[in-house]
Amino acid sequence: MYDTWTDLLMADHEQTEQVIDALEKKWLEKKPAADTVKKAIRYFSEFADACHNQKEEQHLFPRLSAAGIPRQSGPLGVMLMEHERSKQLLAEFCELGQRYIAGETAVADDLVKVFLEYGALLKNHYWKENDILYPMGRKVLGPEEDAAIVTGIEELEASLGADTRKAYQKLAREITEGMLEDLSAALSKEVLAAILNTLPIELSFVDAEDSVRYFSHENHPKIFPRTRGVMGLKVQNCHPSKSVHMVNQILADFKAGKRDEASFWIDMNGKKIHIRYFPVRNPHGEYLGCLETVQDVTAIQQLTGQKRLLD
Ligand SMILES: [Fe+2]
Ligand SMILES: [Fe+2]
Repeated sequence: MYDTWTDLLMADHEQTEQVIDALEKKWLEKKPAADTVKKAIRYFSEFADACHNQKEEQHLFPRLSAAGIPRQSGPLGVMLMEHERSKQLLAEFCELGQRYIAGETAVADDLVKVFLEYGALLKNHYWKENDILYPMGRKVLGPEEDAAIVTGIEELEASLGADTRKAYQKLAREITEGMLEDLSAALSKEVLAAILNTLPIELSFVDAEDSVRYFSHENHPKIFPRTRGVMGLKVQNCHPSKSVHMVNQILADFKAGKRDEASFWIDMNGKKIHIRYFPVRNPHGEYLGCLETVQDVTAIQQLTGQKRLLD
């Protein structure tokens, strides 16, 4: 699933940022539960610090330094300084956390305060790595070094025990359980609708019972005209009878988990139209319905070279 060192390290970042977000939410709402504090101490000491930061310090940073990125100043120096600072804050968090677990409830506010500072530092640090240091690394390192970093990361994980990655993914899931809403929850209905209507792809959605529940771009020009009359209709009634068997086959395959995509392309009025179908599933893998995307890909097909400047 992961091919490159950037994939591996950025997956660590993503997971840790979710843990931070969930804990921030939990602890700003009510006093920390001792059990969660215990899990947080374990996660950040054993994974964020002793595993993730060590992957960088042992396997990435030395190679970046050897490739000419200076260690004392510039992004690498800043990253190392931040690792040090995060270690200090983590030590404070662990010390307060142990006292809190032992029953010293008066330290609760300090514990949360230190955690918020630690979390903010990590999030900012990960952003800099994802957006600045790693892209820089991808430029200066060759394929052999890339492969050696991946091997180093895997060996380090193996040295910490069998299935290290899975064990901390599990711990992260336990900490974040029920606390992480999809990011779209922060958007108003108006904004969400406007985003869907701004996509250069037309969407329509039929639910798990095959009834049409949504289409985008209602008041915009569309490749395939659709009007509100189709809402609630069975999708089989919206397709020409000669293609209904194909619609049924696709839906049956999606429901049975046998297929993750079905695509078609047609020529229409001098344009190449790409039509794709995807099963929509919830995080537990349950089938929620089928998404159809329709896109004019004529201009995309004609792209050559690169365009890196604004018109
Ligand atoms: Fe780092
Ligand atoms: Fe990192």
